[in-house]
Amino acid sequence: MLNTRRLYSSAQCLKVFVVGLAAFLALGVVSSIFLSRATDLNRALSAFIGINSLFFAILLYAGIYYSNKSISEKHTRKVFEETTIALGAVAERKDPYTAGHQRRVAKLAVSIAKEIGLNEEQIKGLYIASIIHDVGKIGIPAEILSKPGRLTELEFAIIKTHSQSGYDILKPVDYPWPVALAVYQHHEKLNGTGYPRALTSEKIILESRILTVADVVEAMASHRPYRPALGVKAALREITDNKGILFDPEVVQACVNVFTRKRFRF
Ligand SMILES: [Fe+2]
Repeated sequence: MLNTRRLYSSAQCLKVFVVGLAAFLALGVVSSIFLSRATDLNRALSAFIGINSLFFAILLYAGIYYSNKSISEKHTRKVFEETTIALGAVAERKDPYTAGHQRRVAKLAVSIAKEIGLNEEQIKGLYIASIIHDVGKIGIPAEILSKPGRLTELEFAIIKTHSQSGYDILKPVDYPWPVALAVYQHHEKLNGTGYPRALTSEKIILESRILTVADVVEAMASHRPYRPALGVKAALREITDNKGILFDPEVVQACVNVFTRKRFRF
């Protein structure tokens, strides 16, 4: 849900400042009149009240200004994230057989990241990349995406273009996280047999290494147009058998822990 809390405009902040200042200066003046025949001590006291009134009004203004700024930044960031999620949902409309795939992958990727100990910001970026990782499929014909039989070599080559397309779609967006890069590399494998660039281990960013494992496990555990679900057990065996070969060993171990110790469910 969007943050609908009302923000004060700059003009309203200024009004609060002026009214606050006027009120407190008036208090200072009144104090001075009452104390005009008074001693030096009382004059010092009225000056003290006047100066403090000014500081109080400035603080009031600064408080409202920074509170506004903080609400506004949070709101912008939330809209930013929700727009990305909406874009991910559009991609799933094109490929109904994998509807919910990105959301389930994102859920697992976040759990793996927490198990590894990534910080809150990295996890947020990973979530955003995961929720939209197949956005590039938007450019692939629906007949290929939902083909019940085996794909031809040409069809598979077309499917493989979705990493690059996803990168091209997301690259212009100035995310504070490596979202486009994580999407670009989500089919790369440690031994260089992945695509689109056949990168090897250290060249693949951690977010992609986590996303790859979560993607493979979710895909194997779920039904596909060309085969029934293989199950979580088979998926965990697949990633364990290829630990250190195709998949990051630390990520594989974290994924196994998430299912066995943390009782993860999609
Ligand atoms: Fe993919």
